[in-house]
Amino acid sequence: MHQYSIRVVALLSGSLVATCLALVACSGPQSLDRAITVVDESAYTQALADQKNDPAEAFLTMRVEELGISAEQAVARDQALSTTKNPFKARKDPVAVSRGAVVYKKHCADCHGQNADGRGTRLPEALAGADFHDFSHRFASTLHHGAPRAWFRKITGGYTAETPNSDGTFSEMPAFNDTLAREQVWLVITYLQSLDADLQDDARAENE
Ligand code: HEC
Repeated sequence: MHQYSIRVVALLSGSLVATCLALVACSGPQSLDRAITVVDESAYTQALADQKNDPAEAFLTMRVEELGISAEQAVARDQALSTTKNPFKARKDPVAVSRGAVVYKKHCADCHGQNADGRGTRLPEALAGADFHDFSHRFASTLHHGAPRAWFRKITGGYTAETPNSDGTFSEMPAFNDTLAREQVWLVITYLQSLDADLQDDARAENE
């Protein structure tokens, strides 16, 4: 009897371990803070402070230092990036995901929510269109190869009108064309793609 119960306990704890492992393996989407490395966040926070809160300037300055290039080269490099094809791979590039998560946290989370669920404080109410766990967005980031490209357009171009509501909240997507560097837009898209547990391989996300 005694032996039996030990065996049951062993069996139970074994399956517990297996379940945990399975959960970790399947967990795919990472929470914002788990995706971000402290170094990436503090470097960008510092750069933003140094560049008077200008996101593109802050980001490009970081690139200048990191790559040992001139400011002009950093701008040219950024402008040379595609507007239709994500140069990063959400499943293979944790650095890009971390940097994208930093962009998300600083510039998107107030509206789209810390969990990317469309429940940010600057929206008048939770909006399905701003929820990246919404089926249509998940579907878009995986099966429909045009989505990342469409997201790039939406993020840079916003929607036609971006007037705040009378209480200062927003019901429309603002344009980030003059705010973010092109690379930052792709990084944040990469982070959004990383949220999709169904996105098992990057081939499907390369929007070719
Ligand atoms: C001031 C609020 C606000 C901020 C900040 C904001 N968004 Fe949005 N965004 C919205 C709203 C509102 C919608 C939903 C529009 C709708 O439902 O039609 C939206 C929709 C979107 C969509 C979906 C477009 C579509 O048609 O599927 C994408 C992609 C998006 N936002 C990305 C971002 C990213 C990335 C950032 C940060 C760089 C960001 N947004 C920052 C308010 C915001």
